[in-house]
Amino acid sequence: MDAVFEQQLNRLADGLADQGYAIIDSFLSDEQVSAIVSSDGFKNGLLQFKKAGIGKQHDKQINESIRGDYIEWIEPASALPSVGVYLHKLDELIQFVNRSLYLSLKDYEVHQTIYPIGSFYKRHLDQFKKDDKRKLSVICYLNQNWQTKEGGQLRIYMETKSMDVFPVAGRLVCFRSDLLEHEVLPATRERLSITGWLLDRPAGT
Ligand code: OGA
Ligand code: MN
Repeated sequence: MDAVFEQQLNRLADGLADQGYAIIDSFLSDEQVSAIVSSDGFKNGLLQFKKAGIGKQHDKQINESIRGDYIEWIEPASALPSVGVYLHKLDELIQFVNRSLYLSLKDYEVHQTIYPIGSFYKRHLDQFKKDDKRKLSVICYLNQNWQTKEGGQLRIYMETKSMDVFPVAGRLVCFRSDLLEHEVLPATRERLSITGWLLDRPAGT
């Protein structure tokens, strides 16, 4: 593991321990972000992605007034090499926080995400009521030259304040899935990311 990455993981672990979230810029380099967004995975964009639902399985429903993003789940075994670079970093992240924060994360689930212009995701918690295997939410943003005036910020709610995170290319945000409510505000530009969760059980169980 190179020194910069190790330093990023240390900051991430400290942030999670101290405040329940961490923001790591340049988690992916500009080149790594370009490779992902120009790959077949994102090329057909909205045509190939599906409207995201809320709830799990039987409880699942599509509700535009709650969330308007489109997603495509990533199958790690057959992921494109450009996405594989990111997944490999997630594996290292899991091992690192397991050691430094005494967690027992075992797996992850991730999807590619597109928020069309003007879409949003209302305030919510990422852990399902009947399933608590999601422990940490991790989102990596893929939007080159994102301007503050374009909106699209992730707003994380804490007890007495909130924090806005703009979806800048290469930036990773990680937070406690069981604890921190958050929302995605509408943007004037399409907003791309890879969204995922670190699980304390294998995915699909
Ligand atoms: C989610 C979510 C935040 C973001 O997909 O559950 O809250 O910044 N995403 O995209
Ligand atoms: Mn969420």
